Amino acid sequence: MKEGFHIVAAEGDVKEGEQLYVELDGEEILVCRHEGNLYAIGYYCSHAEFTIEGGTMHNGCITCPYHGAEFHLKDGAVAAPPAFEPIKTFPIETEDGVIAVKATPN
Ligand code: FES
Repeated sequence: MKEGFHIVAAEGDVKEGEQLYVELDGEEILVCRHEGNLYAIGYYCSHAEFTIEGGTMHNGCITCPYHGAEFHLKDGAVAAPPAFEPIKTFPIETEDGVIAVKATPN
């Protein structure tokens, strides 16, 4: 395991289309699996600070359940308003059947 990474779940705990809340070093993070890839993003939307958990994922983006802002899962960039600030993303990797996340934002 690379330095700074923390094991947050077994790989099988986050299946395709699923999301998992984790808290690491004071950072609230949403681990997502979408189209076979794992992503770790900030837990809160940048629009009105509501949680983004439960947002629909499609075409590499997540849609905030509250007002419909969309963010790219890979880098947190805004894909659709009303948000105009990106959300955080975090380094994530798998090794030996576990998912590990680094609490330092990208
Ligand atoms: S809180 Fe996410 S779009 Fe408004």
